[in-house]
Amino acid sequence: MSDRGNFGTRLGIILATAGSAVGLGNVWRFPFIAGHNGGAVFILIYIGCILLLGIPGMVSEFIVGRHSQANAARAYGHIAGGRRLWRAVGYLGILTASIILGFYAVVAGWCLQYLVASLLGNVQGDADYVTHYFQSFSTNPWKPTLWAVAFVVITHMVVARGVQKGIERAAKLLMPLLFVLLVIIVIASCSLPGAMAGVEFLLRPDFSKVSHSVLLEALGQAFFSLSLGTACLCTFASYFSRDTNLLRSAGQIALLDTLIAIMAGLMIFPAAFSVGVQPDSGPSLIFITLPNVFQQAFGQMPLVGYVIGVLFYALLVFAALTSTISMHEIGTAFFTEEFHLPRKKGAWIVTTVCSLLAVLCSLSIGNSDEISLFGLPLMYFCDFLTAQIMLPAGAFLTSLFVGWFVDQRLLYDEFTNQGTVSLAFFRAYQFSVRFVVPLCIGLIFLHQFGII
Ligand code: PHE
Repeated sequence: MSDRGNFGTRLGIILATAGSAVGLGNVWRFPFIAGHNGGAVFILIYIGCILLLGIPGMVSEFIVGRHSQANAARAYGHIAGGRRLWRAVGYLGILTASIILGFYAVVAGWCLQYLVASLLGNVQGDADYVTHYFQSFSTNPWKPTLWAVAFVVITHMVVARGVQKGIERAAKLLMPLLFVLLVIIVIASCSLPGAMAGVEFLLRPDFSKVSHSVLLEALGQAFFSLSLGTACLCTFASYFSRDTNLLRSAGQIALLDTLIAIMAGLMIFPAAFSVGVQPDSGPSLIFITLPNVFQQAFGQMPLVGYVIGVLFYALLVFAALTSTISMHEIGTAFFTEEFHLPRKKGAWIVTTVCSLLAVLCSLSIGNSDEISLFGLPLMYFCDFLTAQIMLPAGAFLTSLFVGWFVDQRLLYDEFTNQGTVSLAFFRAYQFSVRFVVPLCIGLIFLHQFGII
C-alpha cells in the first residue's frame, strides 16, 4: 500500500482528516447558514446533529475505509463481498466530493483574491465601500473565475506531487495559529459598539425564528462541515493504522470542528450587528463583514489591523486548501487505482472536470443568468444538491450498510480494535447506526419534502 498517497506519520493522517473537516464550511458556510436560520436555535439543532448523527456517521466511514484499505468505490464493494449495489455508495461519494470541489473552489478563489487585495490595502474602507467591493468583484465575469481555476490547480499540484507530508507539517503549525487568530478576532469583534446584539443572536434561542427547513439545513451543514457522506473520511481512513481509536478520533475531530464553527460565528455576528450587515445576507456575509472588523476594531492601530487581516486570509486559504486536497484525493485515488493510471494522470482527470465545473459555477453568479438549474444559479444549486441531498443520502446509505449488511463481527473488531475499546461504546454505536441515524435522516427528508 506504500504508493497509496504519501502520508507521513500517524499523527499526520489524523491531522489531514481534521484539515479536511476544518475549512470554509466552518468559517464561511456556517455563519451564513446560521444567520439565515435564526442563529441560536440553529446552533442547538446543529450540535444535536453532530452528536447524534455526525459522530456515528464518521465512525462508520472510518470502519469501511480502514478495513478495506482501498479507494471509496472498492472499499464499499470489498466489504459487501462484491455485491455491486454497494459500490454505488462509493461512486456517489466520489461524485459528491467532485461537485463540492467545483463550487468550493469558487469561494476559495474569493479568499485568494481577498488575501491579495488585503496585502495591497485595497479592501479597506467604510461599510458601503466594502459591500460594493465584494459585489463588483464577485460579479466580474473573469476575475473570480480565474482565481477559482487557480485554486483547483494549486490543489492538483499538492495531490499529484504527493507533497502531503509538507502540508501536514505546515498544518501542525498553521492550524493552531488559525485558532489563536480566531480568538483575537472574536475579542476584537465583540468589542465593537453594539456588538452584544450579535452575541445574543448567536446564544439566545428565539424559537419563533425556526423555519420549516431548519432541520435539513442543520443536518446538511453538520455533514458538510465534518466532510461526512462524501466517502472522504473513508478514503482517509484507508491510510489509518490498525490501532487508531476510531471513536476517539471522530470525537476529537468533531469537537475541534464545532469549536471553530462557533468561534467563526462569534467573529462574524457581533461585527455584523455593529456595522449593520444583515445576518441573513447569504454567502457574502463574511466577505462584507470581516474587512469592517479589521478596519474598525483596530482603528487606533492600523498596522495591527492590516497584519491581522492579511494573516487571517492567508490562514483561511490554507484551511480551504487542506479541504480541497481531501476532495481531490477521493477522485484521484479512485481513478489511479481502478484504471491503473499513474497518480498524475488520475489527478489530471479530477482537475479537468472540477475546473470546468468551477468555471460554470463562478460564471453562474457572475454575469450569466443562463447557467442555472431549477431557478438557482448553478453555484447555489450545487451547494443545495450536495449539502442537503447527496451528503445526507450518502450518510444514510452508509449507515444502513454498516448497520444491517456488514458482518457485525467485522464491525465489532474494527470499532474496538480487536476488543481494546469498551463493548458498551460498541453497543451504543451499533444501535445508533442501525436505528437512530437512518430513522432521523429518513424523517428529516420526509418532512422536508412535505410527505409528513
Ligand atoms: N468539511 C469541509 C469544510 O468544512 C468541506 C468538505 C466537504 C471537505 C466534503 C471534504 C468533503 O470546509
